[in-house]
Amino acid sequence: MPNVDRRSFLLAAGGLTGCVAAGGAAASALDAQPATVQTGDQHRGVCSIASGNGRRCVDKAMEMIRAGADPVDAVVEGVTIIEDDPDDMSVGLGGLPNEEGVVQLDASVMHGPTHKAGAVACIEGIRNPARVALLVLKRTDHILLVGEGARRFALSYGFNTEELLTPRAREAWLKWRANRSLDDDWLNDEEMDFPAEPRLGAMRDIPFTYGTVHCAATNARDNISATTSTSGLSWKIPGRVGDSPIVGAGMYVDNDVGAAGATGRGEAVIANCGSFNIVEHMARGLTPTEACLAVAKRIADRTREKRLRDERGRPNFNVSLYALRKDGAYGAACLHPGGTFAVHDGTSSRVLRCVPLFEA
Ligand code: GLY
Repeated sequence: MPNVDRRSFLLAAGGLTGCVAAGGAAASALDAQPATVQTGDQHRGVCSIASGNGRRCVDKAMEMIRAGADPVDAVVEGVTIIEDDPDDMSVGLGGLPNEEGVVQLDASVMHGPTHKAGAVACIEGIRNPARVALLVLKRTDHILLVGEGARRFALSYGFNTEELLTPRAREAWLKWRANRSLDDDWLNDEEMDFPAEPRLGAMRDIPFTYGTVHCAATNARDNISATTSTSGLSWKIPGRVGDSPIVGAGMYVDNDVGAAGATGRGEAVIANCGSFNIVEHMARGLTPTEACLAVAKRIADRTREKRLRDERGRPNFNVSLYALRKDGAYGAACLHPGGTFAVHDGTSSRVLRCVPLFEA
């Protein structure tokens, strides 16, 4: 990655941790070290970013913002494209199901100017949970609806129910079920007591995903908004809710500062209030990339269960983190190389690599 002075960043982040804990200013810790500077951190102006599967999201969001739409409507319509795509097995129609073969979807959305949020979790049979979450935001005094209540709420607004399990996703689920026990979410004694082989990827020929789509957009004036949508962890225990519908975990917006989102292992993001912490780091003066790396480091430092660590003590899973400042600066980081993000900077869209905390 160009312009990344990782050693300096990590030194700064270490200083940051102590500094923040002591109530000091994060910026002063960074002043002593060269800042981590990425091209996106220097961008200003209208902008939309998304997870790596969201290039069509940022294109749509930018098109709508240019036409005068509220960024909150723009990001939701952006992720709707991915939810409608049966070939994206991480979200909406075609998303991988839970361990019983049922697709359960989570989504959240947040509108900067009103600081309102809406979310749904474990909703079944509705392919566009982000649109339902936006209706919770706009039409109710609540934030989070779950399960059957969320489904009935959607039906009342005219959403159709349908089978979301596509033939391809069913085939993957049947293959997983026939091989389960090595790679399920129930911990046996050995997994709890001894370092286990990394569970994620134990059966690499079967699609396995924490996959998710996140999209944020700013008009660089008075409105930054964001949404995150997912089918969650594949083969999850029914009823499991990930980070995506949890405001402050898989998505967060502060209209005075910016927006953040996450994809990857939701449990790690929830336990570290990932998106909220990214936005708070930006409020204290970190660039978007630095803010994402600081939270990636926090997740790594707090991954303490042996079954979740590799032989070098690093997390054996990945998380990608995305940040968009209200003025249009943007950045992304991940734990391990491989994470990507999409951006439309007002000129064109492209997919870029997230800055990894750890080298390959
Ligand atoms: N990040 C998506 C999930 O864990 O459900």
